[in-house]
Amino acid sequence: MRIGILTGGGDCPGLNAAIRAVVKRGGSEHGHSMVGFRNGWRGFLDGNSIPLDRNDVRGSLVQGGTMLGTARCHPHKEKGGLERVQEVAEAEKLDAIICIGGDGTLKAASKVGETGVPVIGIPKTIDNDVVGTDVSIGFDTAVSIATEAIDRLHSTAESHNRVMVVELMGRHCGWIAVAAGIAGGADIILAPEEPFDMERVARRISHRHRSQENFSIVAVAEGARPSEESDWSLDETTDANGNPIAGEIGQQVTREIQSRTGYEARLTVLGYVQRGGTPTATDRLLATRLGVAAIDAATEGVTQKFAAVRGEHIVMEDFSVMAGKTKFVPAELLDAARGL
Ligand code: F6P
Repeated sequence: MRIGILTGGGDCPGLNAAIRAVVKRGGSEHGHSMVGFRNGWRGFLDGNSIPLDRNDVRGSLVQGGTMLGTARCHPHKEKGGLERVQEVAEAEKLDAIICIGGDGTLKAASKVGETGVPVIGIPKTIDNDVVGTDVSIGFDTAVSIATEAIDRLHSTAESHNRVMVVELMGRHCGWIAVAAGIAGGADIILAPEEPFDMERVARRISHRHRSQENFSIVAVAEGARPSEESDWSLDETTDANGNPIAGEIGQQVTREIQSRTGYEARLTVLGYVQRGGTPTATDRLLATRLGVAAIDAATEGVTQKFAAVRGEHIVMEDFSVMAGKTKFVPAELLDAARGL
């Protein structure tokens, strides 16, 4: 068989580990020839391909980013995009495409699959918001980086008697803020799933400083927003694509906390550091398991499915399970994040 592979959407640690697993298993175990497409579906539409064998993936297990490059491109949203994917798949004599991506890239994969081109997905995103899998590649590394940052903020917060606000990635859901906030012992965690009341946030900080501690750590997700009942609203500014601008929520929350409590407040925007560098052992293991499952499924002629984690097992889920949906932080975890 001849198998194509691409990575799409925002990069994350563990993508190379997944590519490596697909290429090594595909070549050595199944005798397939493997071809990589540069820059996600964009490169696929351009026919921008390179042959891949085990020599090309040597040493890549520990490397961050993606050796294939990535782009936010969705063929079904481009004029003639799906027809072009069919043309390239035919010209390259592909028997299947393995697509490693988040919700947008995997939804595009399912649209491609509907045209009859066999496609298998692998879920990756530090945001951990792909429905149908317990966890996605990159999340564990991002949480580890964010937790270490919160740990480091503690000592400087305490030394200066400050409120330290740390803004973490997550435009639609607060997985990183909640997980790293709990693991790092943040005093207040603000996530999109649970709109907050600014006066209550300020009161909790004031109470904490009066009664026991002289510092506080606030973890806020990019997409966190005040509730309708809150007496404070966010001055919403968005980028050209209508997305929130990094740092905006953090800055406004920090300013407001300082003015309401009278305590000195400072902001750290962790940003792309959360997506960079070497994957944790957990992400290397996860990426390898998902890569192996994906290439094995492609070999068996499976299509329109993605490899997913369910408990201790890797299962193949239908694209229909995840397409157009978002996996939010469950109530139980939000509850654990409150009032620790
Ligand atoms: O990969 C997901 C994500 O990290 C979001 O949490 C973040 O808001 C977004 O990507 C920003 O990425 P970019 O600037 O590359 O679009």
